[in-house]
Amino acid sequence: MARDRNPVNHVTELHAQEGDRLTTAQGAGVDDTDHSLTAGPRGPVLLEDHHLREKITHFDHERIPERVVHARGTGAHGVFRAYGNAASVTKAAFLATTDEETEVFVRFSTVLGSRGSADTVRDVRGFATKFHTREGTFDLVGNNFPVFFIQDAVKFPDIIHAGKPEPDREIPQAQTAHDTFWDFIGSHTESTHMAMWAMSDRGIPRSYRTMEGFGVHTFRMEAADGTTSLVKFHWKPALGIHSQVWEEAQITQGADPDFHRRDLYDAIAAGAFPQWELGLQIMPDTVDETFEGIDLLDPTKIVPEEICPVQAVGLLTLTEAPENFFAETEQVAFHVDHVVPGIQVTNDPLMQGRLFSYLDTQLTRLGGPNFAQLPVNRPRAAVNDMFRDGMHQQAVHSGVVAYKPNQIDDDLPRTSPDGDDAFVTIPTPVSGEKGRHHPVSFTDHFSQARLFWLSLTPVEQAHEVEAFTFELGKCLRQEVKEGVLASLARVDTDLVARVAAGLGLPVPDGEVPDGVVASPALSQIPAEPGRVD
Ligand code: HEM
Repeated sequence: MARDRNPVNHVTELHAQEGDRLTTAQGAGVDDTDHSLTAGPRGPVLLEDHHLREKITHFDHERIPERVVHARGTGAHGVFRAYGNAASVTKAAFLATTDEETEVFVRFSTVLGSRGSADTVRDVRGFATKFHTREGTFDLVGNNFPVFFIQDAVKFPDIIHAGKPEPDREIPQAQTAHDTFWDFIGSHTESTHMAMWAMSDRGIPRSYRTMEGFGVHTFRMEAADGTTSLVKFHWKPALGIHSQVWEEAQITQGADPDFHRRDLYDAIAAGAFPQWELGLQIMPDTVDETFEGIDLLDPTKIVPEEICPVQAVGLLTLTEAPENFFAETEQVAFHVDHVVPGIQVTNDPLMQGRLFSYLDTQLTRLGGPNFAQLPVNRPRAAVNDMFRDGMHQQAVHSGVVAYKPNQIDDDLPRTSPDGDDAFVTIPTPVSGEKGRHHPVSFTDHFSQARLFWLSLTPVEQAHEVEAFTFELGKCLRQEVKEGVLASLARVDTDLVARVAAGLGLPVPDGEVPDGVVASPALSQIPAEPGRVD
């Protein structure tokens, strides 16, 4: 923002509640807030009553739109401290150095339910972290599953339309299956792997404190010496991974819809500060952006930890609940494209679509382009962006120059590269015909779903079968159930046989269509339970 010449710029806590006197929004004293101005003791209320009109008008506008997805969430402040070992892969100071503690804000969420929905539903959980680094804000906007339903962001409105409550009755919410969601899963076979995670115990965490988190996409990191790597982010909870069984989740939903919210708040209040280690899977930056045959740009694929171990690079500790839910948890605005020097996005088509979506939706949700000035979003790094005016502008910019180059103000702000700039793209070759492509390396939709199934213990497999059977059992249309069974048949014969039996339907065969290229790396993994995290 502009240099501080104007004393008004020093007002940091706008409209903080100060003084011991009730006032109007303009600071004029109010003598009575309980009785409207009327003509006589039994007469009509007078339009002249400023306090009445102002009080009700402000109240009428207290709500902002809930997030179009991830509406239900809860947040906490904390700190992140790096171990220092990431310096070999990234120059991002908050990861590379041990001598600084980075302030963070984390928001956990469910995806499909509305803002007032219950916490312990079966759903994906958001795990979004805002690192207020001295080099700018870095947002790691992840989930508690390492993969996603779709490979291309153009399908995101479709899966959300399919998963959100039905438009006619506005039921059901996320915890109950319905035809459109399962119709989408059966019709878009790339979602099979994610559906396996959603139907597993991971879909009902015991607590936010006992969830893993994943950046899902592959990022590109650049070290101080210019070398680059392809990297996946992981959060590992200090308390380990724990879930609820379905029956527990039903009870907690009824007894305490705020179960996860309360758990996080209570833990912090009791001084049992939740902790996660940040881990990286670090892979060579190759021209084809694959690792052991796995396409790193395909967000429906993991890189198994057996072939690329997660290296712990720092510790996150949540230490403080928000003082005001609206100002912090609701007004926080995460964005995958908030990166700092040393961390870059890749050409993953899902990630590329997200780069557009978050800013776009926040322009509506937070009422214009100045939401980075809200306290929870304010960068801790100096800001000099030459942006001006707009809805809800809080800064009083001084000076006449907001363009470059200029001869009036020493040609400030400076733009010459000095090695610590973000968004300096590593030159990577791009070529090919413009078109709506279907990469062959994105065609394998089942081998990692199978890997996941085989990684489960017998008890976990039983839960998976029960979840599929229960959810599909709620679908009204036979063809929807058959569509999903056809996908499960390509995952595992035992899985599909058990789910089909539960539904009283015939077992389809699991023929793999022509042209599907399975990931060769998967054959390197021993086939016994418990091998995939
Ligand atoms: C919100 C994660 C894919 C659009 C969120 C949030 C998380 C998240 C954690 C909640 C942020 C918060 O707490 O405020 C992910 C992950 C994805 C993914 C891990 C895939 C790997 C997508 C895609 C799109 C999208 C493909 C659109 C093309 C949105 C929107 C919001 C959102 C519009 C609401 C943001 C707001 O109102 O502030 N996402 N998402 N997401 N996501 Fe995603």
